[in-house]
Formats: sequence, structure tokens, C-alpha cells
Amino acid sequence: MLINSNFQMNHRSIEEFARVMVPEALDKNLEIKIVKDDENIVVELEIEGRKESFIYPDQKNKIEDQEITMVKILLLKFFNKKYSWGGLMGVRPTKVVRRFLALGYNYSEIRKIMKEFLLVSDEKIELLIDVVKKELEFLDREHINLYIGIPFCPTKCKYCSFASYEINSGVGRYYKDFVKTLLKEIEITGKFLKEENFKISSIYIGGGTPSTLEENDLEKVLKAINEYIDMSDVKEFTFEAGREDTLTDRKLELAKKYGVDRISLNPQTFKVETLKKVNRKFDRDNFERYFKKAKELGFIVNMDIIVGLPDETTEDVLYTLGELEKFDIENLTIHTLAFKRASNLFKESQERVRLDGEIITKAIKELITKKKISPYYMYRQKNIIEWGENIGYSKAGCESVFNIEMIEENQSTMGLGGGAITKIVVPENEYRDYIERYVNPKDPALYIREMEERMEAKKTLFLKLKK
Ligand SMILES: C[S@@+](CC[C@H](N)C(=O)[O-])C[C@H]1O[C@@H](n2cnc3c(N)ncnc32)[C@H](O)[C@@H]1O
Ligand code: SF4
Repeated sequence: MLINSNFQMNHRSIEEFARVMVPEALDKNLEIKIVKDDENIVVELEIEGRKESFIYPDQKNKIEDQEITMVKILLLKFFNKKYSWGGLMGVRPTKVVRRFLALGYNYSEIRKIMKEFLLVSDEKIELLIDVVKKELEFLDREHINLYIGIPFCPTKCKYCSFASYEINSGVGRYYKDFVKTLLKEIEITGKFLKEENFKISSIYIGGGTPSTLEENDLEKVLKAINEYIDMSDVKEFTFEAGREDTLTDRKLELAKKYGVDRISLNPQTFKVETLKKVNRKFDRDNFERYFKKAKELGFIVNMDIIVGLPDETTEDVLYTLGELEKFDIENLTIHTLAFKRASNLFKESQERVRLDGEIITKAIKELITKKKISPYYMYRQKNIIEWGENIGYSKAGCESVFNIEMIEENQSTMGLGGGAITKIVVPENEYRDYIERYVNPKDPALYIREMEERMEAKKTLFLKLKK
């Protein structure tokens, strides 16, 4: 792609946009002219003798890099690209809406910009606004959250690139020392947070699959949390018990005994053949038994599914949605498959069966209406279906504040365990935050070796919040 322009711009950013959104433009020469007057910005694009232009009121820096964004949008118009998400390419589109709100736009002005400037479809605009309105009921800067990563799973699912290792692989030999190190890390963290008076509003044990922990180790971890972490402000405590093949009644009972109030039990799909194909064990009877047990214990239960798993057709997705109807769940998270570079699937094949987005969207709407659940957080990823996104649905009052805070990057997070991200969020001005991260190694051997040293770095990072 050759770009000739009268305006200084980052050509790489335009090329990256074109690679994903307008690959036809990659081998073209672009002549770009940008003219500004007091009111408007005009962008003219000429490719192979054909000219098109885009005129939009100057938002006076309220839209970041408005000129460059206009070039990208004009590329979509030029090649007649119609995407549900328009020119919104990022992972967190709700943050864009929140930023507009912070800049003083009202919802009807935001709708207009989303539609006329960013070319987002009406349906996605309404989704974004519904989610943001819901999130605003919960966002809370006064607290921090605590994340604990358990980087082990019984088998590695082919589509997954999360920090996790098969418990029976070579890395599994570090399991016992991993648990020991984690117990120490919980103790050091708890003492530090108490000393510095950081208040925690939510705790999340994720991974990997935390229910891979053996019963006695799970008890030690949960006990350590209760002993060292100040739970006085904790509103929710989540334990991902994602896979039925890791569960026992005792593990669920232990979770209950030590204060967990939410669990995830994830089918991903109810088509057993697909689960085999993606290297995930699944026994429907066990799944139902543990679901029943979880409900008896009084947990808020979430289920995760993925739309677009290998070889699944529209009918297969409808089957899974139909099966979900049978479970009385408080939360449901519907993902669309992302081809992640670090996953085995990415290396094998990136073929997709063409899915009927309209039929699936309609079936999801019917399901959530019947189950009285509504969207409360959402995000997108690279390499997903054009119309896709990941949406968390919840019954009113059962929303997970941890999920909201993580997606909105609103609260600071103390991350413990394998691959956990520690993050501080500091307001820079009224519409932008400064975010600094520190990542724990996902490799258990490295984590074990470096935990204490890295703990010091995390303390230093967190102390910046006090300045
Ligand atoms: C960190 S994973 C852990 C959940 C748990 N270990 C399990 O597998 O049930 C969280 C969720 O992300 C989703 N997920 C993982 N990889 C994905 C991918 N490549 N595309 C879309 N969703 C994905 C799955 O639905 C999964 O349940
Ligand atoms: S999807 Fe869950 S169980 Fe599968 S490999 Fe990833 S973290 Fe482990």
C-alpha cells in the first residue's frame, strides 16, 4: 500500500486497518487530501483515478485522531464495506461510548456519531448503549479487585490461548510447588493490601481451570484467602469450575464453605462431537449432576458457550442454545470463536463454516428473553466473525462486578498466580486513564522462582496509586 498525503499521518495504522477491514486496498496507491475549515474536516481519497470524499464536523480533538479515523472510514465507504461494527475495530467498544459520555456528549449525540461517523449498525449501537447504561450502575473506583490465575487444565482445548498447561504434561510436575508459592503469594499480598489499606470489592479465581486443583490444595488456597485477605468489602467471590471433568462434590462444597458465591460451569457447546474435536472432555450426565449440586449449594451459576467452533453449523449453534434453555442459570456468556495465534487451532486450520448471523442473533434474543437475562458487559477480539462479539448476560441483580471492572479497565487489579495481570488505573484527565500493567509469568517454573521478587515490583506499582 502506497500512501501519498498532504497530512502527516501514521501510515502503518492505516495499513493495519486495511489488512483487517479492507484487504482490497492493500495493493493500491492512495492519494489522500485533508482540508479543514472552522467547522468541518474534509477527507478526499483517490484510488486509480476514482475519487470519494468524506465531510464531517470537526469535533475539536474530542474524537482522537479524527482525520486518520476519517481516512479509515472513507476506505470502508470507498470499497463499499458494510460491517455491523463499522469502523470500530477495538476490543472494548463500550469504552469508546463511555469516553464520549465523559466528553459531554449525550446518548442521542453518541448514537449519531456511531451511526454517521463510525458507520456502526443500529443494532450494535443499541447493544453498546444498553451495556454502558448497565455498567454505569456498578463502576466503582474506590476499590480494587483481586485475580488469582491457576494455569492448569486437564487437557488443552484447541482454540484456547490462555495461560494454561495440561496437568499431566511435563509442566504438571511443578503443580505442587506452584500451589506452595501461591499460598505464600496470597499471604504477602494480603498483608500488603491490609497495611496500605487497599479495599477489595471482588475476588476472581480463574485460569486455566482452577477446579483442576486437588481437593486438599483447593482447601489450602481458599483458607489462605480467608485468612490473609481482608474480605470486609468483598461483594462477590468467583471460582471458575469451568470443566465438569475437574469437579467433585467436595470441591463445590469447599468453595461454598469458604465464601465463593459464583461459579462457572461451561459447556462451550452441547455437541459432544465438537468437544472431542477440540480436545475437551465432556460427560453430559456429570455436567447435569454438578449443575444440580451447584444450584443446591446456592451458587450464582454462569455458563460459557462459543459460537463458531470448528465444523459447527447454524443448526448446531441453535441446538446448543436450545439445550441452554433447560438450565436455570443466572449468567450466560456467549463468545464468538477467535482464532488466537497461540492456539493449536490457529496452526491447524482457520476455516470457518458460514453461519447465519441473523438466525443465530434471533435465537439468542429469544433465549435471553425467556431466561430473563440481559447484556451487562461485552468485548470484541481480533480474528472473530464480522458480526460477532462476546457478551455477558445476567439476571437483574446477578451481574458480576468483576467482569464489568475488567472489561472497562476501571479498577486496579492485584494479580496473583500464573499469567495473572496486575494493573493500576489512574485518572489522567476527565476522559482518559493512565494504565500500567505487570504480568506474572504464565510458566509455573518461572513463577515459582520469581514470585517474591515480582511481588516487590507489584507493591511498587500499587504504591503509585497512593501518590
Ligand atoms: C479463560 S477461559 C477459562 C474457562 C474454563 N477453563 C473453561 O474452559 O471452561 C474463559 C472462556 O473464554 C472462552 N474462550 C476461550 N478461548 C476462546 C476463543 N479462542 N474464542 C472465543 N472464546 C474463547 C471460553 O468460552 C472459555 O470458557
Ligand atoms: S478453554 Fe479453559 S479448559 Fe480449555 S484450555 Fe482454555 S482454560 Fe483450559
